[in-house]
Amino acid sequence: MSVAALVPAAGRGERLGGDVCKALREVRGEPLVVHAVRSLQASTDVALVVIAAPAGHVDRFEAVLGAAGSGSRGAGRLRPVWLVVSGAETRQGSVARALAALSCADDVEIVLVHDAARCLVPVEVVRRVVAAVRAGADAVVPVVPLVDTVKQVDGDQITATIDRDRLRQVQTPQGFRRDVLVRAYAAAGAHQAGDDAGLVERIGGNVRVVAGHAEAFKVTGPLDLLVADAVLRTRTP
Ligand code: CTP
Ligand code: MG
Repeated sequence: MSVAALVPAAGRGERLGGDVCKALREVRGEPLVVHAVRSLQASTDVALVVIAAPAGHVDRFEAVLGAAGSGSRGAGRLRPVWLVVSGAETRQGSVARALAALSCADDVEIVLVHDAARCLVPVEVVRRVVAAVRAGADAVVPVVPLVDTVKQVDGDQITATIDRDRLRQVQTPQGFRRDVLVRAYAAAGAHQAGDDAGLVERIGGNVRVVAGHAEAFKVTGPLDLLVADAVLRTRTP
């Protein structure tokens, strides 16, 4: 079963700040989107990657991804099996556009959706997700346990302490049977789910979890860039 990955990378990165969009911010000399595509391509299962860039930035993204395919920098060249499309105002809209672009690849049966911002996801997570879809799940979500106690509040009053044993934090790549993801997006209409698997839950799909990884964290604020830099140092001999 052939695998494609969709990479929503069209966000502005308001919480990170800076004058370029988040996916073009660099860690150890390369943009987050390049790290993200390389992390996915570390799994040889991934035959095609479709990246949703901010509107008006498609050429720029093609240039940085092209440079990572021909240059010798970083942890290895990208394989030239990626395609950049123009993203949308919401993440869900950006994924929908990338999914529409998959119409050029009839043979793809498994689709991963992976945030560019989770640029350092270890290959073992990608492999676990693909394996669980192959084993029969409609959708697969990598998760990690919560580390902090969770409270429910009303203004400045605590109203409950939530039992966190059954709660999980959700990461990407999330994996899907292609036909299920297409149906879930078609059924979504104007409904905005928190994540792609949420759209499959809405249509009654079988959604499984597998173990995520601390290094699949999402670059959200400035501290995360420092962490990403440190993680990459540990990987470079
Ligand atoms: N994303 C997207 N299209 C959007 C918004 C987000 O493709 N309209 C992507 C981001 O580029 C990112 C992923 O969805 O890879 C997760 O979003 P998030 O971490 O929230 O990134 P941003 O929206 O860029 O950040 P912020 O919310 O701080 O502006
Ligand atoms: Mg956002």
